[in-house]
Amino acid sequence: MGAIMLDLAIFISGRGSNMSAIIDACKNSGFPARVSVVISNKPDAKGLEIAAAEGIPTQVVDHKLYSSKPEFEEALHEVVSAYSVDLICLAGFMRILGVGFIQKWPDQIINIHPSLLPEYKGLHTHQRVIEDGKDKTGCTVHYVVPEVDAGQTLVQKVVSVLPDDTEETLGARVLEQEHEAYPEAIDLIAQKLSKRVAG
Ligand code: GRF
Repeated sequence: MGAIMLDLAIFISGRGSNMSAIIDACKNSGFPARVSVVISNKPDAKGLEIAAAEGIPTQVVDHKLYSSKPEFEEALHEVVSAYSVDLICLAGFMRILGVGFIQKWPDQIINIHPSLLPEYKGLHTHQRVIEDGKDKTGCTVHYVVPEVDAGQTLVQKVVSVLPDDTEETLGARVLEQEHEAYPEAIDLIAQKLSKRVAG
């Protein structure tokens, strides 16, 4: 039996540095995934240019062109379904997916969040961590469930908060760890699925 190879869709809204980390990981022989498509809800997302320069198909599903969330998500589902996709990786995708979309992709959507979930769900995590005087933070790759930032954790990386840290310096060190964590999480899912197929 051949090793499992996961076909990925990556959803972005902006610069796409986590997307780039995943694309780079996929270049390593032996990494069990390849990127089928990158989809952005923002037509001007920087990550779209980066993906296109890598020869990866890109698509825009602009949420502003739809009058309701279900219509937007129906369009998103249609676009992603046109590709071979086993796993959807949310990488700085700034829309909250509804239960209707999530149920169409059971256990097939993962997200990265810049905190040690369940702590610091939501936005502005680094600023809140510093304000609270925490000495540790990090990032979490987790399954996506209808409750925001709440699905089962796949990978966490811990980052120390330094006395002089600003939101920017802390965010930069957490981001470095995000770029390690996301490929690890994809690898972990591939290993789990291989075991299931073998067993
Ligand atoms: C990352 O910090 C990620 O954890 C959060 O949004 C940011 C996206 O950055 N969900 P990038 O677009 O991957 O560079």
